[in-house]
Amino acid sequence: MFGMKVKKKQSAPTDLTIDARKVEFPLAEDMAKNRYWHSNDPVVTHFFNALQSTFPEGERFFIDSARDVRDKIGKENLPEVLKRHIDVFIRQEAFHGQHHEHWTQALIDAGYGRMDAFSDELKKMRLWAKENVPAETRLSMTSASEHFTASMAHFFIYKRPDLIRGASEPFQQLLLYHALEEVEHKAVCFDLYQESKGGYRLRMLGLLISSVDIMKHVSERHIYLLKKDGLWNLSNRVKAMNLIWGRKGIATQLIPYVLTYTKPNFHPWETDERVKLRASFEDIFQQLDAKMATAS
Ligand SMILES: [Fe+2]
Ligand SMILES: [Fe+2]
Repeated sequence: MFGMKVKKKQSAPTDLTIDARKVEFPLAEDMAKNRYWHSNDPVVTHFFNALQSTFPEGERFFIDSARDVRDKIGKENLPEVLKRHIDVFIRQEAFHGQHHEHWTQALIDAGYGRMDAFSDELKKMRLWAKENVPAETRLSMTSASEHFTASMAHFFIYKRPDLIRGASEPFQQLLLYHALEEVEHKAVCFDLYQESKGGYRLRMLGLLISSVDIMKHVSERHIYLLKKDGLWNLSNRVKAMNLIWGRKGIATQLIPYVLTYTKPNFHPWETDERVKLRASFEDIFQQLDAKMATAS
């Protein structure tokens, strides 16, 4: 039901390779052509604009927590493969952060100035957490967030491929590039958390904090973007509610998969989305692979 089962549980597939691909997407140019680059629909477009704007600081938070726990345990005490994977995870997230920073800048340039203040607020929270929240607790939040981002790939494949198909070309490519790399590194922080001897309760606390956090930040940005366009009217409020909580809504469809994380013996590689992700969006991956080949 939730994708191909991996026979050997609790570890990464033997053919797993994690690559940090350097590639560019002309997001600002595309946004200048059509502000509502997703299905010509402000509610859906601004949902993605809102979600992605939490990523640059979020991804820095993930990198900080992984680095801090790795250094606390000591590199010499970690398995070789995990050490290598942590390095590539950091590179992947650093590139993702850059893409999403360009995306946010394109929004600021398009007149949504408050996106800058939203990012500053998240930066302050990240720096505060680095000083005041134990690294293992931050990693438990990262591990849960990584499950969210991997769940998005699952969601696009099995539930709402239309949310990829409806985006304009550069955004389609960025969403799929990001989804692929999120799947590749989905277990890195989880495995590091296990190495840190992090327990079940803290893992659940991380899930709870991350869930509340992401919902709060995405909804306030979503509302701001629609208000700024003068489109926060009754019909769009209903549409936004349906997009998130309707029968085929994003949260409605994502939550059952996200909750697999609450199983005490959960491991991210219980399911493997790599092949199905490519197969479901083969035509887009053809263009994307060509772009990635020339970029590397
Ligand atoms: Fe990422
Ligand atoms: Fe990630």
